[in-house]
Amino acid sequence: MGEARTKGLLLIIDDDELFCDATRDLLRNEELEVQVAHTGRAGMEMCAARRVDVVLLDQNLPDAEGHTLCPGILEHNDQSKIIFVTAHPSFETAVKALRAGADDYLSKPFETEELRLAVERALHAVDLEHIAAVERYRHEKATEQSELVGESSLFGEIRELVSLAASSEAPVLITGETGTGKTHIARAIHYSGLSAGRTFMSTNCAALPENLIEAELFGAEKGAFTGAQRTRRGIFEMAEGGTMFLDEIGEMPFNLQSKLLGVLEDKHVRRLGGSTLLPVDVRVIAATSKDLEEELDRSFRRDLYYRLSVMRIHIPPLRDRRGDIPPLCMHLLSDLTDGKPPELPEDELRELSAYDWPGNVRELRNVLERSVIMQLKRGERFQPSRFIDATGRASRPSTPPPSVSPVHGDPEISLEDMEKTHIGTVLARNEGNLTQTAKTLGIALSTLKRKLKRYGLR
Ligand SMILES: Nc1ncnc2c1ncn2[C@@H]1O[C@H](COP(=O)(O)OP(=O)(O)OP(=O)(O)O)[C@@H](O)[C@H]1O
Ligand SMILES: [Mg+2]
Repeated sequence: MGEARTKGLLLIIDDDELFCDATRDLLRNEELEVQVAHTGRAGMEMCAARRVDVVLLDQNLPDAEGHTLCPGILEHNDQSKIIFVTAHPSFETAVKALRAGADDYLSKPFETEELRLAVERALHAVDLEHIAAVERYRHEKATEQSELVGESSLFGEIRELVSLAASSEAPVLITGETGTGKTHIARAIHYSGLSAGRTFMSTNCAALPENLIEAELFGAEKGAFTGAQRTRRGIFEMAEGGTMFLDEIGEMPFNLQSKLLGVLEDKHVRRLGGSTLLPVDVRVIAATSKDLEEELDRSFRRDLYYRLSVMRIHIPPLRDRRGDIPPLCMHLLSDLTDGKPPELPEDELRELSAYDWPGNVRELRNVLERSVIMQLKRGERFQPSRFIDATGRASRPSTPPPSVSPVHGDPEISLEDMEKTHIGTVLARNEGNLTQTAKTLGIALSTLKRKLKRYGLR
């Protein structure tokens, strides 16, 4: 708790100089600075100038009755704790002081231990309130940042799955192309559910080499490997009671997958180099842009796959839920401009809605951000669509499938393009499930796989 604050500040407002000096010497230490004021006025000046944590306030001051200062003190520092001190204790003064905002009450003469305890209690209360305020702020931020924006019917289904997942503790597997919002959805599940006030930890399985990822996730005992100079807790231990988000789960090394299964099934972890099994209770959410079913028995364990995908949430690409583009534009623009979004002209919105967004919501955000910086902030015409070519199309290796529906066919389109588009659409409808897609198309699974490869579809 000591980490939550820097040095505390206690202010004594009392005209008795001897009392002030003695009390200062008694209370000040490495963690507490003590200042003294001999009049109400000097005390208020100090409160206006500095962040005072605790005020030791005397009732009889040369220029005021102590309790009348309370509202002023709290106006300057609403977190201040006031300990009211009087040499003429009476029930009325005590009530007056507490009504005016004092937190505690001491009558002179008092034992030093009594004073010390009162100050300790007050500092502790300040700490707790400070920590609570920080937590509240963090929580608000996180909740705000995981707001789910989308109005399409496909997104409506996602919303339902998210609230279902939020009310449960079961593992969730989130799939979808890059930038579709997998991380965003994982946070939304955590912050909208039972777990909202608990820890949310995340790790990207693709970002670390195998030996490091093991230590990071499961912890390591001192000396477990060269460089492990002290025992380190793993992220699973740190996420105790909360949520662990494993991004790019498809990249998790094969031999770590069984360790992860242990966490999920038996709720325990063993640190690298450790011999004891430590209990852990963590909700796991995993995400991948890979088709894990394709990897089963090769680079991904089947048992782990089934355990992780108790609930599956597939986020379709933005081009399959174009209805989400306008509300996302509004939301992202508001975010990028501190709540002062510019008006998006009708023709701009039409262009943005027609584009295929291979990089999905992230690409949309990038395009909008560029135009906020390059156009809006320089007073130029706001035309985000101008930045589409520079980001999306150029970075896409193959030509995009035409966005026309093959059913209401474009007479200019080739049979091959039509087939490619149709397969892509059916695949998305079936949330990437190959068996189902082959069935819908009326072709063999092997034929489908061959075609997917040929067209560079996933
Ligand atoms: N439905 C949504 N509502 C609001 N913001 C969203 C939504 N979906 C995505 N975003 C925003 O789009 C950006 C990209 O989303 P996110 O990082 O979650 O994608 P991802 O699928 O995890 O990408 P990657 O595959 O690269 O990990 C983020 O800034 C995210 O906040
Ligand atoms: Mg992500």
